[in-house]
Amino acid sequence: MSWVSIEREKCEECGLCSSVCVRCFSKKDERTEAFANEDNCNLCGHCVAICPTQAIVHHRMDMKAFIDLDDRDKIEKEPFLKFLQRRRTHRNFLAKEISREVMETLFDACRLAPTGSNVQNVEILILRDRKKIEKLIDLTVDYYRKLMPRVEKKVERFKMGGKPIPPDLQWAWDRSRRYVTLLKILDSGGDPIFRGAHTILIFHSTPHTSTPKDNSVIAAHTLALTAMTMGLETCYIGLFEAAYKNHPPVAKELNLPAGHEVFSVLVLGYPKFKFLRAVDRRPLKVAWA
Ligand SMILES: Cc1cc2nc3c(=O)[nH]c(=O)nc-3n(C[C@H](O)[C@H](O)[C@H](O)COP(=O)(O)O)c2cc1C
Repeated sequence: MSWVSIEREKCEECGLCSSVCVRCFSKKDERTEAFANEDNCNLCGHCVAICPTQAIVHHRMDMKAFIDLDDRDKIEKEPFLKFLQRRRTHRNFLAKEISREVMETLFDACRLAPTGSNVQNVEILILRDRKKIEKLIDLTVDYYRKLMPRVEKKVERFKMGGKPIPPDLQWAWDRSRRYVTLLKILDSGGDPIFRGAHTILIFHSTPHTSTPKDNSVIAAHTLALTAMTMGLETCYIGLFEAAYKNHPPVAKELNLPAGHEVFSVLVLGYPKFKFLRAVDRRPLKVAWA
């Protein structure tokens, strides 16, 4: 049986369902037929969302979720661009706790983010346990502490052999000198990794799925932008992601579900400071072919 049925008394044969989904709908003798199943339907819900007469019923989806949308809620271009201009990475947070209710709203917004093939399998691990966070900071800094001499040794070998340094090693070398700052911050009692934030969000999923990295980053950014509307700010933490991938003790301490990997990391909190100005950014290089 098809996962989708068409209520004939409501259907006006406008053809919108088959226009938005060629995989699950086709026309036979001037009549639209639905044949959605596990081979062709990815539960995107487009067919139900587009039908002007509510003639489509999806039996694998919660029909109550298909609430009417109103053009009055539409965000205008100028306020939206200003909102994007206001987004900043924050690295200083207040100790103020984020309520469960606020967190639930953020997770709800995250569900709305698109995923490749609509797999919807991004998960979030919320770190709030101070002891665990401190352990992860130490392990992450430890990774960078060990990385610096390793990179330096490799560079020396190339230099002594009179060979040009390969671009990836040059990049690692340029970066690794910056890691000295991490050690300095840690030694002076600061948190160079999670920036003192009390809430850390680890976006993870199995790697054996459609576009896991993209899914996680889009989910994270959806959450980050939603957070701004509630007075919260964020910072992505690529430093932790790299340590997780390359330093097994970090992965062991994080203890994700078996087979899962980290694809994006955000810290979240009420900001200590307010940016007063927008910032300069290079023009985007765009080619028209
Ligand atoms: C994928 C990604 C990873 C990042 N990782 C870190 C990080 O580990 N630590 C940090 O302090 N900032 C990190 N940042 C923040 C960037 O440094 C910041 O976005 C950049 O300087 C531009 O500033 P803006 O976000 O205010 O525009 C990261 C940003 C992105 C997009």
